Amino acid sequence: MVPEIQNLLHEARRFPPTQEFAAQANASSELYEQASAGREEFWADQARQLLHWHTPFTTTLDWSNPPFAKWFDDGQLNVAYNCLDRHVLAGLGDRVALHWEGEPGDTRTVTYAELTAEVKRTANLLVSLGITAGDRVAIYLPMIPEAVVAMLAVARIGAVHSVVFGGFSASSLRSRIDDANAKVVITADGGWRKGKVMPLKPAVDAALAQGGPENPSSVEHVLVVKRGDNEVEWTSGRDLWWHEEVPAMDAEHEAQPFAAEHPLFILYTSGTTGSPKGILHTSGGYLTQVAFTHRNVFDLKAETDVFWCTADIGWVTGHSYVVYGPLANGATQVLYEGTPDVPHPGRWWELIEKYKVTTLYTAPTAIRSFMKAGREIPLGFDLTSLRVLGSVGEPINPEAWIWYQEIIGGGLTPVVDTWWQTETGAIMISALAGVTTTKPGSAQVPIPGISVDVVSEAGQSRPKNSGGLLVVTEPWPAMLRGIWGDPERFKKTYWDQFEGKYFAGDGARLDRDGEVWVLGRVDDVMNVSGHRLSTAEIESALVSHHMVAEAAVVGAEDEATGQAVVAFVILKRSADTHDVASASDILRAHVAAEIGAIARPRSVFIVQELPKTRSGKIMRRLLRDVADGREVGDTSTLADTQVMQTISDTVR
Ligand code: WTA
Repeated sequence: MVPEIQNLLHEARRFPPTQEFAAQANASSELYEQASAGREEFWADQARQLLHWHTPFTTTLDWSNPPFAKWFDDGQLNVAYNCLDRHVLAGLGDRVALHWEGEPGDTRTVTYAELTAEVKRTANLLVSLGITAGDRVAIYLPMIPEAVVAMLAVARIGAVHSVVFGGFSASSLRSRIDDANAKVVITADGGWRKGKVMPLKPAVDAALAQGGPENPSSVEHVLVVKRGDNEVEWTSGRDLWWHEEVPAMDAEHEAQPFAAEHPLFILYTSGTTGSPKGILHTSGGYLTQVAFTHRNVFDLKAETDVFWCTADIGWVTGHSYVVYGPLANGATQVLYEGTPDVPHPGRWWELIEKYKVTTLYTAPTAIRSFMKAGREIPLGFDLTSLRVLGSVGEPINPEAWIWYQEIIGGGLTPVVDTWWQTETGAIMISALAGVTTTKPGSAQVPIPGISVDVVSEAGQSRPKNSGGLLVVTEPWPAMLRGIWGDPERFKKTYWDQFEGKYFAGDGARLDRDGEVWVLGRVDDVMNVSGHRLSTAEIESALVSHHMVAEAAVVGAEDEATGQAVVAFVILKRSADTHDVASASDILRAHVAAEIGAIARPRSVFIVQELPKTRSGKIMRRLLRDVADGREVGDTSTLADTQVMQTISDTVR
């Protein structure tokens, strides 16, 4: 739920850090002073302190060809070495890297030494399959330790991973494989979700078969982890079992250094137009900022903390705060395969009690669903190990923030609301645990070394106590380096609106102290349970169905998921059914099959007309009013002013 502006203005609660917490915190207000004394020098210091460089860099930022930034350009490092080998060499091989818990309750404990050895073997296997630096590898896996191993093994040999969320359909997977020209797909037979095995390998088979033999994919091998024990088909020569191949490999592999700007990964995310964008991240700057934010926002104490970020590795939060940030910092983590309420609604709290989790990083949508289920559930577990709580993915409403702090955090833990995006790579606006006096509902202040502003449509800075559009005003180390294969789209999407500034697509408000309250998307991108979906993508899935003539999709307010997908559809005269209920069910299922279950509309309304301006543009604003049950706004620019009345009548 996007917090109403009125609510925000009345939100007066403040939570200063306790003296005890502040006294032991990693961060202090000095970080802000150092950063404002010299932003670039500040990041160079962080890069040197937090990472191991095979070749130290001598230049910090090259912004001579904006918006294409180069950070630490002449330095060399190996990202996987930074996340693994150096900890083992420092004598920390026995430290637990992952406390993994499968949904059915099976467990694995993986130390840094074990993780390092497994990554080395997997790297050797990838090399033997012909993968070299710069090649792309798609990863389509459940939340199992092999997912982390696969990402690091790809990174170790300088290849580029493209992780595709396991909930995406075969055709979403295929379009991502094609766009990146991936040579290998790493998947599993299936994974556990909601009490049953969700098959994955069959979706890979379907993806690769799409378009028939005359339309072969770029994929040469499919490496399959055995997890679900579900039956799978096998293409010999192409398909390989992980458990047969990886253990047979040499456990030694020397990490080679790569340039700081060497590509690390591509991650596809929704934009305002149809096809997802392959957001490109590189090595040195990215790793610096994820390590810095992980250490200072969450006050990570690697020796004693148990960190749990609940995000799937298919999203950027899983990349930055399950894999790269925590492992670069030598943290101990919990990794959980399943859903929060299987086999019982207290599963997460049980895991926190069991592993003595100190730091929980999750999304408002999860918090709201726990609120709905009732406080008795978490209160039945010992959650006293928790000392920092984090929120990410969408605006957190003050009620949920307070509930999180009181019921989960026992009233004392700092709650950090972290704003960032797939494109920013790492946290940009957030409180620092132990430093910032927090405000429920606000992401508050840019982290040290980051500069943001809230501007008017004309690009003028807005004063305190007013709203506008959120921009980042200076290049930052973890910034996206481009959109895979499409430099023009990169410029146009993010840099064309406001000269020299990055436009994030979010609306925001500055409060009386000049702190930031992010209000949500201002473009045609929806945020459903913290997952980005574009209206255009879902519309094109809908019109791909033979019954559909036209479709318009909007994000409606939804108490549980923040926003929900609502579609308005005009059927073709030739449609096999004009029974509204069955057409709507068919189309909801069609979207789920085309894109994935997360995109399934909450409702599909079959209508006769869509509201259009005289130039033929669909007025989504009016449809949003209908979807939210509000009075419909100004219709005077419609070509046919009667349309909205007809639609409102249909929907009711
Ligand atoms: C939204 C997820 C308010 C925002 C890391 C952004 C937030 C989009 C917050 C990026 C927050 C993320 N408060 N809104 N703390 N965090 N958002 O790329 O609209 O999946 O643009 O990255 O999520 O989503 P993405």
